Amino acid sequence: MSRRVLVTGAAGFIGSHLCEALVARGDTVIGIDNFDPFYPRATKERNLEALRGAGRFRFLEADIVRQALPLDGVEVVVHLAARPGVRPSLEDPAGYMEVNVTGTARVLEAARRARVARVVFGSSSSVYGETTPAPFAETAPAAAPISPYAASKRAAELLAHAFAHLYGLRIACLRFFTVYGPRQRPDLAIHRFTDRIARGLPVRRHGDGSSERDYTYISDAVHGAVAALDWTEGGAGMCEAFNIGGGDRVRLDRLLALIGRALGREPVVEPAPDEPGDVHLTAADLRRSERELGYRPTVGIEEGIRQFVRWYEATHGRES
Ligand SMILES: NC(=O)c1ccc[n+]([C@@H]2O[C@H](COP(=O)([O-])OP(=O)(O)OC[C@H]3O[C@@H](n4cnc5c(N)ncnc54)[C@H](O)[C@@H]3O)[C@@H](O)[C@H]2O)c1
Repeated sequence: MSRRVLVTGAAGFIGSHLCEALVARGDTVIGIDNFDPFYPRATKERNLEALRGAGRFRFLEADIVRQALPLDGVEVVVHLAARPGVRPSLEDPAGYMEVNVTGTARVLEAARRARVARVVFGSSSSVYGETTPAPFAETAPAAAPISPYAASKRAAELLAHAFAHLYGLRIACLRFFTVYGPRQRPDLAIHRFTDRIARGLPVRRHGDGSSERDYTYISDAVHGAVAALDWTEGGAGMCEAFNIGGGDRVRLDRLLALIGRALGREPVVEPAPDEPGDVHLTAADLRRSERELGYRPTVGIEEGIRQFVRWYEATHGRES
């Protein structure tokens, strides 16, 4: 059955891939984005290239904090618009709260007024902080975030819970674990490392290389989001968190070696101190996502890095 879906953050990395997947399966999609200058507008315009020509896709340049959303006839909202990134959130905590928390309140309030009862929200593994035992399970309290970004995502989840309780919305909060793949945000480590190693420049490695991340390939993240969208069709009044991870812990030094191998270049590593706000480990417990969403990641880190590097090399020179 085809649906009418509104996606915020549609010109971004995950949003643009998700819109493509929804259009491909027959949904009608309205994409919203304000081209936030966190990274270049031209990059986001390119993210939308494949969608611009597609029927069943309409794009609106709008700010979720300040402008009304076109919700007429919409059945599901996928809310991905945000100020992303842990480290930059230390520079502008109030700005992160405004978009990620107030912005989410506006989206939820607009949805309930328009009687859109189904919402998928893009949350983050960073909500688990440093004290959650690994692998991180959704049942953990996640009450000790260590960056303004993480705090903003957890606050937005709590707000979603209140809306589900008060108005009978059904909301899935997806806790994405470092998503990567073609069109990945340029600020994220895999993209930055690839860019520097490809150009023969040294990479700054924060910490001793032993930190570990659970990396999620973009096609897996999109499958998780589509499954969550379908999950919202069930009973009203539920707000549930779901981990969307890759299922493996990858050490930072291994990640660098994999990128170097895919590029055919030896990385030149400059050690640097740990970054404040960054957690040492992320690891997803995927049992709930598998049980309730049928989510099972399929692209491992070696294959994913090869595909990312292939994309990087194909687009290099076109990127700003
Ligand atoms: N990429 C990851 O690894 C990752 C991990 C955890 C959570 N997330 C979350 O997933 C979502 C998508 O992340 P992404 O990596 O695609 O980021 P992205 O920056 O590529 O996409 C977010 C989009 O939101 C838009 N936006 C920002 N403020 C807006 C506003 N006020 N009004 C309208 N649009 C606005 C931006 O212009 C951008 O295009 C975000 O909520 C992010 O916090 C991402």
